[in-house]
Amino acid sequence: MLVLGIESTCDETACAVVREGTHILSNIVASQIDLHKEYGGVVPELACRRHIDLIMPVLQQALQQAQVSMAEIDLIAVAHGPGLIGALLIGLNTAKALAFAHQKPFIGINHIEAHLYAALMSHGEPVSFPCLGVVLSGGHTALVLMKEIGVYQLIGQTVDDAIGEAFDKVAKMLGLPYPGGPQIERLARAGKTGVYTFKAGQVKGRPFDFSFSGLKTAVLYTLKGPKGQQPLENLSMQEACNLAAAFQQAALEDVVKKTLAAADRHQVRTILFGGGVTNNQRLRELFNQANPHQTYIWPSVGLSLDNAAMIAGLGYHRYAKQGAGDPLSLEPLVRIPFV
Ligand code: KG4
Ligand code: ZN
Repeated sequence: MLVLGIESTCDETACAVVREGTHILSNIVASQIDLHKEYGGVVPELACRRHIDLIMPVLQQALQQAQVSMAEIDLIAVAHGPGLIGALLIGLNTAKALAFAHQKPFIGINHIEAHLYAALMSHGEPVSFPCLGVVLSGGHTALVLMKEIGVYQLIGQTVDDAIGEAFDKVAKMLGLPYPGGPQIERLARAGKTGVYTFKAGQVKGRPFDFSFSGLKTAVLYTLKGPKGQQPLENLSMQEACNLAAAFQQAALEDVVKKTLAAADRHQVRTILFGGGVTNNQRLRELFNQANPHQTYIWPSVGLSLDNAAMIAGLGYHRYAKQGAGDPLSLEPLVRIPFV
């Protein structure tokens, strides 16, 4: 079965062709980083306009690289949320138009669920469920108990900023370009530990929830002083590296601690990771150090950031389970509850 995947939830326009849920024939991603860089974050209105320009060329490229025509596609899978409403509309309406014009079934996919499926796709071998899914992206931070593909229980999530968002905002404070995650990781490597100490937030009575907003503000106060007084003027490169290291350590340690505690609580041996922050090598080191006996499944490079191969791959399973596509009246959803 050949599935065409379409992704446009945020600032990546992506199309992919995937055979039988795992075999990637093409995975084209047009990033908009250049467009949003000067604003230090994604500007929704600009993202939507760029999606309009890019969606058809990216689709053509994905079909060409896979060496298939629309006539050979069996199913169209599209991320219909969560995401920016205008951005979602471009991908969803493209998918509907293609489905209608070519008389193909189409199916809406939860973008966050697809981030977790990306790890399964990367792994290549079957995993034994239940697993613990960890989503660490620019828009989401969540711990999910996965009983099988499509059967989930949300265990914890952020109550304020997503972890990637916190990385991006702290990077912006340090004058680093968007997206900030890789920049923070780079500086942190040269940072001295122990010069600054931060802690991620804890949510009372909810041990597996996350809070990164206070951590981000703590970095800001260290930089500028509580009321904008005593700024750390002319921040030296070394000080910026020390701050980046302290922030990164606090954010990642919190993820490691809560994830391993959740795995323990639910007696899960396999942990799957999804989302852009999982590219962080320090995160991987910390997990291996904290518990080398767990099985960690990380997404491969092309599948960690937003992409359409994960959408197509999950679409294959969803369609098999549902036994049918979705109606053309399917709506975009800014938020989708996980269960
Ligand atoms: O999964 P993704 O492409 O987008 C969303 O679905 O939100 O993830 C993008 C996020 C950005 O916040 C980016 O700064 C972060 O992933 N990121 C990183 C690293 N690489 C990307 N964060 C920390 N360390 C990295 N190496
Ligand atoms: Zn994403």
